[in-house]
Amino acid sequence: MFLLFCGYLTANAQTDTKTKVEDLLKKMTLEEKVGQMTQVTLDVIGKGSSRYASDEPFALDEAKMEKALVQYKLGSVLNTSNNRARTPQEWYAIITNIQQVAMKKTKNGIPVLYGIDAIHGETYTAGATLFPQQIGQAATYNRSLVRRGAEISAYETRASSIPWAFSPLLDLGADPRFPRQWESFGEDPYLVGQMGAQAVKGLEGENNDVANPYHVASSVKHFLGYQTAVSGKDRTPSFISDQALREYHIPPFKAAIDAGAKTIMINSGIINGIPVHANYNILTKLLKEELGFKGLAVTDWGDIENLNQRDHVAKDNKDAVRIAINAGIDMSMVPYNYEPFCDDLIALVKEGKVKMERIDDAVRRILTLKYELNLFNKPTTNPKDYPKFGSKEFEQASYQTAAESITLLKNNDSALPLSKSVKILVTGPNANSMRTLDGAWSYSWQGEKVEQFATKYHTILKALELKAGKENVSYVPGVSYKMDGKYFEEYADKLDEAVTAAKDADVIVLCLGENSYTETPGNLSDLYLSDLQTELAQKLAATGKKIILVLNEGRPRLISKFEHKMSAVVQSYLPGSFGGDAIADVLLGTVNPSGRLPYTYPQFPNALFTYYHKPSESRSTTEGVYNYDADYNPQYVFGQGLSYTTFKYSPIKLSTTSLKKGETLTVTVEVSNTGKVEGKESVLLFTSDLVATLITPDAKRLRAFDKINLKAGETKTVTFHISPDDIGFINADGKKVTEEGAFTIQIADQKINFNYTP
Ligand code: BGC
Repeated sequence: MFLLFCGYLTANAQTDTKTKVEDLLKKMTLEEKVGQMTQVTLDVIGKGSSRYASDEPFALDEAKMEKALVQYKLGSVLNTSNNRARTPQEWYAIITNIQQVAMKKTKNGIPVLYGIDAIHGETYTAGATLFPQQIGQAATYNRSLVRRGAEISAYETRASSIPWAFSPLLDLGADPRFPRQWESFGEDPYLVGQMGAQAVKGLEGENNDVANPYHVASSVKHFLGYQTAVSGKDRTPSFISDQALREYHIPPFKAAIDAGAKTIMINSGIINGIPVHANYNILTKLLKEELGFKGLAVTDWGDIENLNQRDHVAKDNKDAVRIAINAGIDMSMVPYNYEPFCDDLIALVKEGKVKMERIDDAVRRILTLKYELNLFNKPTTNPKDYPKFGSKEFEQASYQTAAESITLLKNNDSALPLSKSVKILVTGPNANSMRTLDGAWSYSWQGEKVEQFATKYHTILKALELKAGKENVSYVPGVSYKMDGKYFEEYADKLDEAVTAAKDADVIVLCLGENSYTETPGNLSDLYLSDLQTELAQKLAATGKKIILVLNEGRPRLISKFEHKMSAVVQSYLPGSFGGDAIADVLLGTVNPSGRLPYTYPQFPNALFTYYHKPSESRSTTEGVYNYDADYNPQYVFGQGLSYTTFKYSPIKLSTTSLKKGETLTVTVEVSNTGKVEGKESVLLFTSDLVATLITPDAKRLRAFDKINLKAGETKTVTFHISPDDIGFINADGKKVTEEGAFTIQIADQKINFNYTP
């Protein structure tokens, strides 16, 4: 009854919103409608002599606001000013002022929709709780941690008076060269979709009730196929077949759309020669018609102008506006020169080159969201109503996610955990840096201001000193990052002293990786870890001391030149503000590691694979008609992750070995903790289709996962349900099919076959 009542209320609220939107739409002029479709960055209305930066302390400029919000009637603002975090109180003052102008000085009083990159917590709010970046969140294989992180991020974003987060990122992180792989949930479409749906629900709430002042609208991004550029570099062309697009790239976005995601951001790149912002087939046919996306599609940064200036598919700005809006864009993240966008779009409508129905469709989507967010009644949210902002409870959630993300990749002779009172030399450029733990999109775009804002948190060094005792820890950097140079510039910083210091230590904790970066500044031409860091590793290894390699990196930089000399390897990804504590706890054994790699860690630059490669990429010398070794040789496989305990899997049991159409296969396996300490285990279920028509089947595919906790000696039964649809594939005609025949299920070291009959 209660559920029925709630359903009635929801349906009523929807009709109500619809009526309000239609009523308002009828009253609006073309100029107002176009204004709603326009988004500018905060600096455009800030005091200062240019649009690209503002004076500090930041203040809004009344004349600039008058022009942008009253004369041009702009409907949306994004980003911070001067690329730096603000306190919740500053945000409240800024956004209150903006809303007052927009709502009091215009005829229809439409509130501004403010959006921000809250991607691992509220990026641009000082004091906000920053979580591990998405790649680490994926490594937890723990859906509830991802959801909790998103809920906290929503709370703290609203505590900053901002109702819209440009998150989660659902690009397939399948290319280790790409400078944003770490912003993704990894290489697997199922994992990305599962975590993506959790993030959407965490941000928007279970029923996507974004009027709730603890929720925000999400913006899943970047639709679609962004991270698979041929060059591995940001915003360069991809070539993706329709079959591959449907098999790998669409499912995560579909999962998020089905979870109710309110908005979507478009891929800034180019697929099969066509900039996505110009692609009617992708934006309208696929996204809005086939996937049934009812929300708002916003461009990425400057991407309409790019159709003219970068991609040369439009002869001028006006042509670019015509192409993008007709392709299906609802809002342009201009973000600086809004006048040409607005003037050109108004002219295009008057000339009949963009239809009024297209404009109404876009504005309807925008206004619907503004009503759903309750912005007309509550255009701002006051930080005083958010007592949990930056609280211990939230910090604990961030720590927990970091602790479960850390992935033990190698542990020869139980080198870890470290025994009590050993003498530790801590070294490497990532040992004493908060910036490298947080990564980019932390207090600023590239993360270069982290040290200024994150003073209360612990670097790896600091956490080890606190937990292992200062007297047991010595530190020599060996190599350091140049703080004001290019993103990857490094210098030898007492490298020889580090080697000398190693002689007095029992164990070396070598913290290597990358400095923070994202987007084009993070483009890379050599995937190997830098020469200097490699030299440091080699020289330390030559001392014969035991080395624990702690990786702190946004993508898997190649370590094959020295990995064999390391006793243990710990991947921490970009673990956020509590990453130092979590790493120290793993090294010292207070936390039993339970992360698993959400991507394939390559060993060589010319051997970049995903685990769902084709059989020809990994066959052994005994397979195939002639004898050749395809040499599938990752450094660490997808799903790799060790523990301080041991787990044993029973043989897999199936409810049937001949699955039929309409039935569900129940799969059970018993997992036992056969070691001496409590531990968490992520149980991953893969299937392989043994023969498929025309499209050579993937070696295997992740279809289900669960994470369990087992005390020493404890056994638990894990149950999965697999439907025929779960094991289907996109065939050569672009259709999802599940074909008759044999399949293998694999969980850890256990395998079993079954047959499917449609
Ligand atoms: C990025 C987006 C981001 C946007 C707004 C772009 O450069 O590609 O991911 O949301 O900027 O900051």
